[in-house]
Amino acid sequence: MDKKIDPKRTWPKGYEPKEGEDEDITLRLGLMSNILNKKTEKKLNTDIFKVMATRRSTRKFSTNPVERWKIDKILAAADSAPTAGNFQGFEIFYISDKDTKEELVKAANKQPYVNTPLVLVFCMNPARVKLDFSPKVIMKFSIQDATLAAAYSQLAASALGLSSIWIGMFDEEKVKEIIGTDLRPTSLLCVGYPIKKRPAKQRRQLKELIHVVEKKD
Ligand SMILES: Cc1cc2nc3c(=O)[nH]c(=O)nc-3n(C[C@H](O)[C@H](O)[C@H](O)COP(=O)(O)O)c2cc1C
Repeated sequence: MDKKIDPKRTWPKGYEPKEGEDEDITLRLGLMSNILNKKTEKKLNTDIFKVMATRRSTRKFSTNPVERWKIDKILAAADSAPTAGNFQGFEIFYISDKDTKEELVKAANKQPYVNTPLVLVFCMNPARVKLDFSPKVIMKFSIQDATLAAAYSQLAASALGLSSIWIGMFDEEKVKEIIGTDLRPTSLLCVGYPIKKRPAKQRRQLKELIHVVEKKD
């Protein structure tokens, strides 16, 4: 276990490892491979189909905080999502401050459940997508990158015994101002422990969802 902190490394502000922390700090050097592969003490629901079948949005959260190792995994899950050309045309803003969360509630049409123990704002960053396509295509890629990353985080949260609410209804300009960015936010993912676990919602019938396109004569 390497507990020395490399002074040359830079860390997201507020996310720096502390000397003497009881964890292998090299873990945070490579979010994806290390954190995703790290064995957990608690048995997790690793059957992806079960995670999908049981995930349910929550709007009533307990005040229990989300453990650091779970936050790491949720962020690492976003990092593992496929992106256009692997350029990762998105950014995540991890909101750790109570007042900022309250500001976000106001920016999200006063939806109170935005104020959860863990709030992540997913934003597009089309400038990262270095592909020789029109700006319209680049924007399309970037919005898909950010959305997919948020969806990976949402599923990861579910696998970790947490619940979440995806927020798409918000004032983009207000959110940009609150989190201090020019990047366009695509979704807020608000995560915590549900007060009550509820069964998954019904979906439409498969025959209404799937349209088989057959070869034309
Ligand atoms: C693009 C998108 C936008 C959403 N926006 C909101 C929102 O602003 N507020 C909210 O309470 N739920 C929002 N939701 C959550 C949906 O209402 C929820 O996922 C849906 O009812 C299905 O329920 P389930 O997630 O439990 O399966 C959003 C979900 C998506 C995918």
